[in-house]
Amino acid sequence: MEAAEAAVLDELEELARGPGAGAAIHESLPGAEWNALEDAFLRRRSVRKYKAKQVPAHLVRRILEIGRYAPSQGNCQPWKFVVVRDKDMIARLERYCVDECKKLSRLLDYSHYAKGTLRRAVSRLTAGVFNRLDHNMLHPVPVSAVKAIAEGRFAVFHKAPTLIFPLMDKRGVGSPEVDIGIVGTNIVMAAHSHGLGSCWVGFSKLLARNKELSEMLGAVWPYEIVETIALGYPIGDPTQNHVPRQTHEITWWEDGKKQILY
Ligand SMILES: Cc1cc2nc3c(=O)[nH]c(=O)nc-3n(C[C@H](O)[C@H](O)[C@H](O)COP(=O)(O)O)c2cc1C
Repeated sequence: MEAAEAAVLDELEELARGPGAGAAIHESLPGAEWNALEDAFLRRRSVRKYKAKQVPAHLVRRILEIGRYAPSQGNCQPWKFVVVRDKDMIARLERYCVDECKKLSRLLDYSHYAKGTLRRAVSRLTAGVFNRLDHNMLHPVPVSAVKAIAEGRFAVFHKAPTLIFPLMDKRGVGSPEVDIGIVGTNIVMAAHSHGLGSCWVGFSKLLARNKELSEMLGAVWPYEIVETIALGYPIGDPTQNHVPRQTHEITWWEDGKKQILY
């Protein structure tokens, strides 16, 4: 676990530094060039360094319109949009999340304490309990990111000038989280098509721990913060950020036969 966390920390620091130089983006399949839409999907990268210049309001409205046209189960459209462009408010949201990461890091990161000490054993036990309760959040990626945020090596909202919260209406049909994911995809792709950069921010869920901030954002029943999308003009060329993808096996059933493809 600790080796995995160290690897993730290195990766996060590299991401926080911004675009690398001339990294490979993708290869097209032999004999078939990617079309414009496919190319856009392949070239979009998360942006973690933004210019101070604000995104024009009309562009944000336009991007939200593409979000609004996302499909949803039963067409129940279980969301409402909250846009934050107020610098002081963004700074306040950032501060709150960083403080929460500091608390979480002290509670869960047993590598703070020397091997063989009681504090380390207690911290390890606490981490184990949390892991049982919320295993997704104790994957090495979020744990390492919490640590990096707590130590000021990784930002939460990446100093983006605009934040979009597609708040989820918990009364949505089936799995409204899926609908929010699709809205977010529409938003980041629309932003990309305008040369804007964006980054999903899962850590914004931490804001739900604070009643005042949740109320300020309108994230009160039946609405919930699931993700936030940071938006702005990128510094550097994000398409140069090569973020590798795994090749997962594809199970393919046809004519009564099962094949495994890659
Ligand atoms: C639901 C979701 C939550 C994410 N949360 C964060 C986050 O809190 N901070 C961050 O810097 N990146 C976040 N990301 C971005 C991922 O790290 C990124 O998509 C992944 O590393 C692949 O890189 P790419 O988007 O550049 O292709 C999130 C992505 C998704 C889809």
